[in-house]
Amino acid sequence: MYLRLSMNIALEFFQYLLKAKGRHGTHSPYVYDFVDVCLRLPIPSDIKNGFKNYFHRLHTNRSSIEVMDYGAGSKKMGKRRRVSKMARVSGSNGKYGELLFRITQHYKPAKVLELGTSLGLGSWMLSRGNTNAAVTTVEGCPNTYNFVKNELSSLSNIKCVNASFVHFLESNHTHYDVVYIDGDHRGSSVIEMLELLEPILKDETIIIIDDIRWSEDMLNHWKQIVAMDRYHLTMDLFRMGIVVKRTHQQKEHFIVKY
Ligand SMILES: C[S@@+](CC[C@H](N)C(=O)[O-])C[C@H]1O[C@@H](n2cnc3c(N)ncnc32)[C@H](O)[C@@H]1O
Repeated sequence: MYLRLSMNIALEFFQYLLKAKGRHGTHSPYVYDFVDVCLRLPIPSDIKNGFKNYFHRLHTNRSSIEVMDYGAGSKKMGKRRRVSKMARVSGSNGKYGELLFRITQHYKPAKVLELGTSLGLGSWMLSRGNTNAAVTTVEGCPNTYNFVKNELSSLSNIKCVNASFVHFLESNHTHYDVVYIDGDHRGSSVIEMLELLEPILKDETIIIIDDIRWSEDMLNHWKQIVAMDRYHLTMDLFRMGIVVKRTHQQKEHFIVKY
């Protein structure tokens, strides 16, 4: 089963590499700017070091959290999870963590929403990209929330919320500029989140969806999202997908090299 999954991912990655385009493969000014400027923003050394320190603190933390699992759960962990292992297997680090930083740095969103805090690696990057942004991050598991709230307490532009995504979105009317969906890895739940987000989306709100190739189910639902008329611009960056409502443009999809 694991071998089949790894082979599928390898094949998917190969196909992605064949189709992915850099800045010269795009005629869209928005995508050209995204690829040429946003994706190439240098990560300042204080950010690299700050993130490394935060990650190291988590990675060397030997305590455990009893997690309340939402959605598809984890492929690699049980209910009682070592913080060190959670940091290693379920966070936005590496180049995709840097992507979150680059997006908030480049587009300077005033309001950012993250669905799925876990240990706060994504929240850390989103908030450091634009320290003027108000970043709200939602976590359903009470123990994880209590842990991460404390870990992120020194970053004054992050607000942690303990709620289920559905409950949060049904009771919230804020219009966000960037939304990062990184929680429940069932494709149907991602679609449900998009439905609930619909009333509070603005033109140009950037929605980042993590783990679009986490499973066949996630990939199939990503394809459905790409086909939806309501999103005018969609971009596939292999692990993450980006969707933007841009009512003034023709519908377009790009496979972007990252
Ligand atoms: C993959 S982790 C998030 C990783 C984090 N965004 C990062 O970048 O490091 C997903 C988190 O979402 C939470 N979650 C999943 N489904 C949820 C739901 N429906 N409501 C609330 N929280 C949920 C899980 O408890 C878990 O902590």
